[in-house]
Amino acid sequence: MTASSRILHPGLRQKIMSADAAAALISDGDNVGMSGFTGAGYPKAVPAALARHIERANQGGNTFRIGVWTGASTAPELDGALAQVGGIEMRLPYQSDPTCRTRINAGQMDYIDIHLSHVAQFVWFGFLGKLNVAVVEVAGVLEDGRLIPSSSVGNNKTWLDQADKVILEVNSWQPAALEGMHDVYYGTQRPPLRKPIPMVAPGDRIGEPYLHVDPAKVVAVVETQAPDRNTAFTPPDEASNRIAEHILDFLAHEVKQGRLPAELLPLQSGVGNIANAVLSGLNQGPFENLTGYTEVLQDGMLEMLKSGKMTMASATALSLSGEGMKEFLGNLDFYRQRIVLRPQEISNHPEIIRRLGIISMNGMIEADIYGNVNSTHIMGTRIMNGIGGSGDFARNAYLSMFMTPSTAKGGAISCIVPMASPVDHTEHDVQILVTEQGLSDLRGLAPRQRARRVIERCAHPDFRPALLDYVERAEAEGRAGRAGLHTPHLLQEALSWHTRFERTGSMRA
Ligand code: COA
Repeated sequence: MTASSRILHPGLRQKIMSADAAAALISDGDNVGMSGFTGAGYPKAVPAALARHIERANQGGNTFRIGVWTGASTAPELDGALAQVGGIEMRLPYQSDPTCRTRINAGQMDYIDIHLSHVAQFVWFGFLGKLNVAVVEVAGVLEDGRLIPSSSVGNNKTWLDQADKVILEVNSWQPAALEGMHDVYYGTQRPPLRKPIPMVAPGDRIGEPYLHVDPAKVVAVVETQAPDRNTAFTPPDEASNRIAEHILDFLAHEVKQGRLPAELLPLQSGVGNIANAVLSGLNQGPFENLTGYTEVLQDGMLEMLKSGKMTMASATALSLSGEGMKEFLGNLDFYRQRIVLRPQEISNHPEIIRRLGIISMNGMIEADIYGNVNSTHIMGTRIMNGIGGSGDFARNAYLSMFMTPSTAKGGAISCIVPMASPVDHTEHDVQILVTEQGLSDLRGLAPRQRARRVIERCAHPDFRPALLDYVERAEAEGRAGRAGLHTPHLLQEALSWHTRFERTGSMRA
């Protein structure tokens, strides 16, 4: 099927043009809202054409730069291409592109790292300035101009509403049968007009399957036939499998204690291989009739839907490997009954996360002995990706877990440190830490108790003595009346593990 046969609105058919012609409608200094969430549903042609356009302009001595706002991370064809030519002035709200990362850390590009549930409302509130252009991939256009969303919904509803000009990419690679899988809720308002969001179960449909756009605002329609990024997952390593085992044991224990129902509560699982390993573990495990209320649906959750362990999953994006995508496309009618894709303002909405009682499981870079978590920075100053939805879930979840291998870089780095730098999730939002060494359940523990539990259960044995020594000396300072004993620290030393790594390439003394 060609893209043209998916553009049924006569007025929008007349606006079909090349990606180059569409990119020329974007001006220096524009803020551009692009579709795309974790490598799914991003525009495939206009950003690359825009990058070429910017490169030519900048060779002539101009400085053509734009603001790039998205759902979350995209792909080399978007973030990579635009960053490569120095075309991004400001990026938000989440990225994971190596070229972007390098430029941000080199101070050549600004980046605002925002909770994913906040982005849409910040734009409606006018907190981020004017959105000039939206570039949104869709799977098709109906005769009346409504749009069939593609493999992610992200912030597309907001981009289409708020932008002055809209460029649509109609991608015929996206399965036509995606139609009907989405649920776009148009009931959100600005305060003081807000009403409760009427969702009480992960599979509830509260909106409609289509996105709306004012056809008069559409300045270009570009046809594409190009695949999503489809990142491959590496098979789970031993550390990931151990982490998964600890989590499964813990969940079984919680069911036994009557703190969780037998079918658990809706699962949220972050990005990456550890998250995928946990889901594989759950797929082999004893729990039945599970549900998912998550941001990104990865292969692990697809397998659980396939096996019947999971009955329903809600997300804002499908982020599948090539194999996962093949499975999905081959059985679309099956998955259409079991997957709902929503705007990220809903998939990550604190009200719904709190109401449904989510079990939240996210990766982290490091945690400190008191349970403060750093999800975003390497050695205090260099951004890795961003906070993504981890804060939306962690603060509002029924159970909030963070997981990491206990060491990084061949054992030179301890992922349990005296003080996290910086802190994305404070100790108040972190209930459970998991490494391959063990699981620390921090619920109901005061800071000094938390420190001992984290060191005993989660730190690598090579780093345990130094961490214990740190806590004991900090407590001695407190007992000597030179510091507080609520959260004992040696402030001169608290970040010395990080500075030692910067100096010597290792946190080991
Ligand atoms: N210090 C320095 N580097 C560290 C580190 C630490 N404490 N811990 C991990 N790293 C490095 C790893 O060595 C690896 O480096 P490499 O890319 O050069 O190999 C990199 O960070 C990624 O680590 P990895 O163990 O592969 O983790 P991951 O893929 O599970 O990602 C996060 C971990 C924290 C980066 C990732 O989960 C993330 O971006 N989280 C924030 C957003 C989020 O939680 N989203 C989901 C919410 S819905």
